[in-house]
Amino acid sequence: MPEASRIMPYRVLFLFFVLSTSISTNHACKEADHNSLLSSFNTSSSRLNWSSSDCCHWEGIACDADGRVTHVLLPSKRLQGSISRSLGSLTHLSHLNLSHNLLSGPLEAGLFLSSSCLEILDLSYNLLSGKLPLFLSSTYIHILDLSNNQFNATIPSSFLQHAWNLSSLNVSKNHFTGQIPSSICLRSSSIRVLDFSNNDFNGSIPLGLGNCSKLETFRAGFNTLSGTLPSDLYKAQALHEISLPSNQLFGHISDNIVNLTSLTILEIYFNHLSGALPLHIGKLSKLKLMLLHLNILEGPLPPSLMNCTNLIELNLGFNRFDGNISVLNFSELDQLIKLDLVSNHFSGAMPKSLYSCKYLKAVRLGGNDLEGQIQPEIVLLKYLSFLSLGRNRLTNVTGAIHTLMRLESLRAVVLSYSFLGEELPDGDAMIGSGFQNLRLFSLSNCQLRGNIPVWMSKLKKLKVLDLSSNRLTGSIPPWLGSLPSLFFISLDNNFLSGGLPKELFSLQALVSEKPSAQTDSADVELPIYTQRTNETVGELRYNYLSNLPPSIGFRNNSLSGNIPIEIGRLQNLHELDLSINNIVGSIPDQVSKLTNLERLDLSRNHLLGGIPASLSSLHFLGSFSVAYNNLQGQVPLGTQLQGFDATAYEGNPGLCGSPLPNKCQQMNTSDNATKNMEDEHDNGNEIPWLHISVALGFIVGFWGVCGPLVFNTSWRYAYFQFLSKVKDRFMALGFIVGFWGVCGPLVVFFFN
Ligand SMILES: *[C@@H]1O[C@H](CO)[C@@H](O)[C@H](O)[C@H]1NC(C)=O
Ligand SMILES: *[C@@H]1O[C@H](CO)[C@@H](O)[C@H](O)[C@H]1NC(C)=O
Ligand SMILES: *[C@@H]1O[C@H](CO)[C@@H](O)[C@H](O)[C@H]1NC(C)=O
Ligand SMILES: *[C@@H]1O[C@H](CO)[C@@H](O)[C@H](O)[C@H]1NC(C)=O
Ligand SMILES: *[C@@H]1O[C@H](CO)[C@@H](O)[C@H](O)[C@H]1NC(C)=O
Ligand SMILES: *[C@@H]1O[C@H](CO)[C@@H](O)[C@H](O)[C@H]1NC(C)=O
Ligand SMILES: *[C@@H]1O[C@H](CO)[C@@H](O)[C@H](O)[C@H]1NC(C)=O
Ligand SMILES: *[C@@H]1O[C@H](CO)[C@@H](O)[C@H](O)[C@H]1NC(C)=O
Ligand SMILES: *[C@@H]1O[C@H](CO)[C@@H](O)[C@H](O)[C@H]1NC(C)=O
Ligand SMILES: *[C@@H]1O[C@H](CO)[C@@H](O)[C@H](O)[C@H]1NC(C)=O
Ligand SMILES: *[C@@H]1O[C@H](CO)[C@@H](O)[C@H](O)[C@H]1NC(C)=O
Ligand SMILES: *[C@@H]1O[C@H](CO)[C@@H](O)[C@H](O)[C@H]1NC(C)=O
Repeated sequence: MPEASRIMPYRVLFLFFVLSTSISTNHACKEADHNSLLSSFNTSSSRLNWSSSDCCHWEGIACDADGRVTHVLLPSKRLQGSISRSLGSLTHLSHLNLSHNLLSGPLEAGLFLSSSCLEILDLSYNLLSGKLPLFLSSTYIHILDLSNNQFNATIPSSFLQHAWNLSSLNVSKNHFTGQIPSSICLRSSSIRVLDFSNNDFNGSIPLGLGNCSKLETFRAGFNTLSGTLPSDLYKAQALHEISLPSNQLFGHISDNIVNLTSLTILEIYFNHLSGALPLHIGKLSKLKLMLLHLNILEGPLPPSLMNCTNLIELNLGFNRFDGNISVLNFSELDQLIKLDLVSNHFSGAMPKSLYSCKYLKAVRLGGNDLEGQIQPEIVLLKYLSFLSLGRNRLTNVTGAIHTLMRLESLRAVVLSYSFLGEELPDGDAMIGSGFQNLRLFSLSNCQLRGNIPVWMSKLKKLKVLDLSSNRLTGSIPPWLGSLPSLFFISLDNNFLSGGLPKELFSLQALVSEKPSAQTDSADVELPIYTQRTNETVGELRYNYLSNLPPSIGFRNNSLSGNIPIEIGRLQNLHELDLSINNIVGSIPDQVSKLTNLERLDLSRNHLLGGIPASLSSLHFLGSFSVAYNNLQGQVPLGTQLQGFDATAYEGNPGLCGSPLPNKCQQMNTSDNATKNMEDEHDNGNEIPWLHISVALGFIVGFWGVCGPLVFNTSWRYAYFQFLSKVKDRFMALGFIVGFWGVCGPLVVFFFN
């Protein structure tokens, strides 16, 4: 008891203390703050429940003990309009999170001048625009996220002048210009995260980052930065991530990079970096991602690279590396999942040590100078899903197919430009139950002899088949029509003969929307690059097979017979090329049912009759040719068919009317039509001259527009950059159509 009585007073005191603090936190919010909040936000449009009298209890609001508002946390509340100036009068505000709203307009000049307590400011994912104000006055600012808005102009050097305690700055996905404000490291030595990516920053990266001794993440990709990597970058010892892809950086990667021993991500792809990889790069033993593709790096790979044993993805494609690759020992890279060395100058055989990297899912060594055969040990890579070895000097196609068919996970195989002149193995039993997951198979440009092999009829998951530019003979097999997922077939440039089998026109994936486009989530492990010419590299990039245009390409064979009316069933077809064959008969009306068609080339056959007027209902048609047939009559009037230039129709003596230079006579009787044709024949002497000048014009046009893609690297980069930023399939298609429209007839399509 005496004990208890001694304790009592303390208890009373304690109770009193608890009561008084709870009273003061319950202390109704100060009227000034109450009013500022109400005039800052439109509660009716954002459906905020701000009905109670005490603003400290409102949704998203918190106060300090004195009833002053400290937190305004209103992410994803459909807030609209501009950020009101009255928000600036919340003088005790420390946390402001308005991310994921629809706020627009500029940040007014004085907005945060009196918010001197602000620690966390998150305005990301809004529609804010204009320049940043000159000052952010808070010295306590810790996290500043302005990403995903439409801010522009330069970041004023005074903006973060007082941000002594800044830890994270994210301004990615805006339209900022000018130099990256590296100087903030001089004031804010506690910075850990800097994200400047996806803006219009230009100029070189100024010195300063070296003062950020705690900097872990530095991102500034997808800008137009030029110059070399700043020399003090290598002093920022805490760096985990350097991410500078898609800029115009040049110069070497300094040997000093090996001092950044915490580095796990190094991505500087798609720049102009040159020189060799640092000799002791292996000291970066924590590296997981090394993405340096699309630069002009050269020399052999340093053996120490194989000491980066934590590498998960190594991409050095589209550079100028050389040396014998078979001497490298990949066996220590046992975490490696993706290896891409496409388009370099590596020589030697495929390194056997690679087969110890047991988790490998994707290997691309195409476009090098490798030789020899695909070794049987490759079957040890049981997760291998993507294999691209084209454009080397590999031999033994029979052995290659026998070996690869045993890799059960394989989805994509590209072996173009290999096995020159060999015979493609045929035979029903050949692959047994192999290749059961194959989606993409390319053996183009191999000059292979033989027929289209029967074993392919068992590849029930095949979506994309490219056997173009070989010497295949025989006919187009009817079973092709029974492959349920096939939507892209290229047999261009072969010696195939016979008619178009009717079965082809019941191809399931072309008759209706591709059925598995959505469900097949696990797509290709590496993006596929397709090319329309054999000179340029990496123009069109596809991250998903389903983004390839549904197409049938039989160009330049010896196919005969009619175009069957069943063609009208292939409603999902986007490209149809039957040019340079011996196809006869008329163009069936049913072609006009292919309402998704973007490219139609029937040129250089023996087609007769008129151009069906119904073709004008093909609204997506961007490239069209019926040149060099025996078509007659008038080009359908008043339709988009007249929007194509005369080259689309030339070489048909019986055709007339715009855009052709010859006017139509009245041709209501066959008499008059015949007479008309005779007239044309009489003028035969002049026609070649017309053709020659048109052809010359075309060639000049071709080099004028397509030439730069082939020869001028900056053009090529701009083009690639455009495509790499395009996420929307529709835009990409629009571009492809445009490209084909101008450059189509002279080029071929293949995979890398
Ligand atoms: C608030 O939003 C409502 C509904 O969107 C709108 O009618 C009203 O004009 C807005 N008020 C102000 C002051 O913007
Ligand atoms: C609004 O909040 C108050 C408490 O602050 C609550 O009692 C009321 O039910 C809420 N109204 C709605 C519609 O959510
Ligand atoms: C702001 O709110 C969003 C949504 O709750 C959250 O994801 C984000 O991390 C917050 N920002 C900061 C800086 O805490
Ligand atoms: C910056 O954005 C503002 C508001 O959207 C616009 O009026 C101004 O023209 C832009 N300035 C530049 C240089 O793009
Ligand atoms: C800086 O921020 C940290 C939180 O990360 C905080 O503990 C510290 O007190 C701040 N210092 C100043 C001067 O604001
Ligand atoms: C910066 O913000 C963007 C979203 O706008 C986000 O994707 C990115 O991860 C952020 N950067 C860092 C380093 O967190
Ligand atoms: C950066 O871009 C601005 C326009 O946005 C331009 O005036 C300036 O000259 C450019 N600077 C460099 C170094 O290219
Ligand atoms: C890298 O480390 C070496 C030795 O520790 C040192 O001499 C050199 O100056 C460092 N380089 C940089 C850029 O810090
Ligand atoms: C790889 O690392 C080991 C141990 O750290 C070292 O002995 C060896 O010299 C390194 N190899 C290369 C090629 O740098
Ligand atoms: C082709 O490869 C197979 C299987 O690897 C092998 O049995 C055959 O001997 C090879 N042929 C030649 C000509 O090397
Ligand atoms: C045939 O053409 C002649 C002129 O070449 C014309 O006078 C005549 O009316 C045409 N016949 C018919 C049936 O249109
Ligand atoms: C491909 O390139 C070779 C030589 O580089 C050339 O002879 C050939 O015509 C080209 N083919 C096409 C379709 O451009």
